[in-house]
Amino acid sequence: MVWWFIVPKVTFGEDALTDLELLGGEKAIIITDEVINSLGHVDKVKSILEENGWEVSVWDGAEPDPRISIVKNAAEAMTEFAPDWIVAVGGGSVMDTAKAAWILYEHPDENLESVNPLQPLDLRNKAKLVCIPTTAGTGSEATKAIVIREDETGRKFATNNNELVPDLAILDPELITGLPRDLTAYTGLDALAHSVDAYISVWKNDFSDACTMQTVRMVFEWLPKSVENPGDTVAREKMLVAANLAGMSFSNSQVCLSHSLGHCMGSVHRLQHGMSVGMALPYTIEYNAHDTPDAARQYSELGRLVGIEEKDDEKAARRFAAKIRDLQKEVGAPTSFEEAGMSKEDFDKGLDKLVEFTMMDSSITMNPRFIDSMTIRRVYEYMYEGKPIDF
Ligand SMILES: NC(=O)c1ccc[n+]([C@@H]2O[C@H](COP(=O)([O-])OP(=O)(O)OC[C@H]3O[C@@H](n4cnc5c(N)ncnc54)[C@H](O)[C@@H]3O)[C@@H](O)[C@H]2O)c1
Ligand SMILES: [Fe+2]
Repeated sequence: MVWWFIVPKVTFGEDALTDLELLGGEKAIIITDEVINSLGHVDKVKSILEENGWEVSVWDGAEPDPRISIVKNAAEAMTEFAPDWIVAVGGGSVMDTAKAAWILYEHPDENLESVNPLQPLDLRNKAKLVCIPTTAGTGSEATKAIVIREDETGRKFATNNNELVPDLAILDPELITGLPRDLTAYTGLDALAHSVDAYISVWKNDFSDACTMQTVRMVFEWLPKSVENPGDTVAREKMLVAANLAGMSFSNSQVCLSHSLGHCMGSVHRLQHGMSVGMALPYTIEYNAHDTPDAARQYSELGRLVGIEEKDDEKAARRFAAKIRDLQKEVGAPTSFEEAGMSKEDFDKGLDKLVEFTMMDSSITMNPRFIDSMTIRRVYEYMYEGKPIDF
């Protein structure tokens, strides 16, 4: 079988933002949200471009977990301004808004809900895309994926297409030193979940494995330092790189059960994405490692990278899950719905929807161990009270 490993060009390090000067173009639209716009990052990007003779427009209407209607607003702004570059400055939500709106800018009649990996999207007739992340987690600046939400149901859905890999990713640590501690922790756990999922996905490959292994080492070393000392630009840069590597990894391999659960926790309870997938990850490791020897061995390989020596693969996988829970506690992320402050009543009210949406999530098909709806319900129930999976 022939595979492609598709990644963007990446510039990284202190003052990487100045590499915007290297882009050849005339008109750029900056896609962002109000919070990021108010922090001064957008002004910085805008002035670099303007000093180089560009005409620049700013659209700051993005929202966390973007709905299709918001994506359409961004696409309208693009159509009105007619840029030859789209510059996304923000977290995963901003970058996904820019990527999805780009599709509609190029082809206004495209239906976002039917975008799939196999179709030719025929992008780059009107514009190219540069992504500048302000969180270190999603890696969307390196991926072919978009995650958006249906307006009517609130359901988040993910899709991907090779053409959605940005032309350039700029990783500048200065842009994330102001990220609050909780979002630093959650988004960092998202990168860990991407890399671990990619390593056990049925589409794993040697390139994605290499990116995963370095991500796992880096997250355990640098995430606590980023949370402890937000102004530590070395730690921030390392986490930006780790998130980017994790994006490369899963974009070319796919995410699995932790993301199926996490997407639906975001849809039903509006829990932050990284908090959700981070919380789900150890439970999915315990579930997959049981009765799936290949997955147990793969988790055990990852565990070895962070000091877990254990002959029995399933035991090693369970120790790896426990080590991830320790990391979550260290950085102040919840390890159960209860710890996230959710009442049992709210949890029970949302459970049917959680199970229904999880069964519809595309990432579930990449999971190495089969799971049915009754078992998904049990996993969520264990997750409510923080009980390690024993089935
Ligand atoms: N396309 C992909 O490859 C991919 C991968 C993983 C996740 N996602 C999606 O990305 C979204 C999550 O993105 P995220 O975790 O980056 O969070 P986010 O983009 O939703 O941002 C969360 C909040 O943090 C704020 N924020 C962002 N950067 C900041 C900064 N530097 N300082 C202060 N505040 C800042 C934002 O304004 C927002 O209010 C989810 O919808 C998820 O499903 C996409
Ligand atoms: Fe994610």
